[in-house]
Amino acid sequence: MTPDGRRPLVAGNWKMHGRVGTTSAYVQRLLELLDDDGTVETAVCVPFTALAAAVEAARGSRLLVAAQNMHQEDDGAYTGEISSAMLAEIGVRGVVLGHSERRLHAGETDRALADKVPAALTAGLLPILCVGESEEERDAGETQRRLRYQVQEALEKVPTERLAGVVVAYEPIWAIGTGQVAAPEDADEAMAFIRALVGDRSKEAAGRLRVLYGGSVKPENAAEILAQPNVDGALVGGASLDPASLAEIARAARR
Ligand code: 13P
Repeated sequence: MTPDGRRPLVAGNWKMHGRVGTTSAYVQRLLELLDDDGTVETAVCVPFTALAAAVEAARGSRLLVAAQNMHQEDDGAYTGEISSAMLAEIGVRGVVLGHSERRLHAGETDRALADKVPAALTAGLLPILCVGESEEERDAGETQRRLRYQVQEALEKVPTERLAGVVVAYEPIWAIGTGQVAAPEDADEAMAFIRALVGDRSKEAAGRLRVLYGGSVKPENAAEILAQPNVDGALVGGASLDPASLAEIARAARR
């Protein structure tokens, strides 16, 4: 638990990596290396094709298997899309929403996210909502403006009593895949701001809301960033492809 009683969450986002054939071995190795006692919640966010294999391999453990996107409707004429109901049906328990790579390459909008986040909650999925500023926005002093817009828009239709069930991942775009991790104090300040935005809706929810940091988290830098008061865990990209690295980061979140 963090000093405020929030259970840390460390989630590995494989992005477009991983095959069905290697998923079971990855999950088994991760479970061997994890202290699966519930102190730190651990998740793997895998491509759609690997979800069933990950769910099967994680059965009987606390490891949460999450998707990396979903459609906001349950069913409909949306060729190529996957709904929250479809994910829940196969045992998926979480979903990454609004990752900057989807915003950049797949036209993901804050408008769609305003429907996706409540749809995920309704389906019983843990939504991991990604927000974060670009390098240009940071340099122009626009970080808070960008975060305010993203957070308020995406959470607009979430009922106040369900706000604390959302996880927000602060991922400054300039820190993703660059090896350029945010300074721990800067990340903490941005994450305190995100918490305060939720606090404008509900102080109680803000106190329970988990905010993760994402962007070049590695075993070597995890402890320092995870020690910050507003950092409740990490969303890990590249380093999560090695189960040993993800397990080490999860260990750093125990405190
Ligand atoms: P990296 O850890 O590879 O920088 O990626 C972060 C990320 O985008 C996680 O969602």
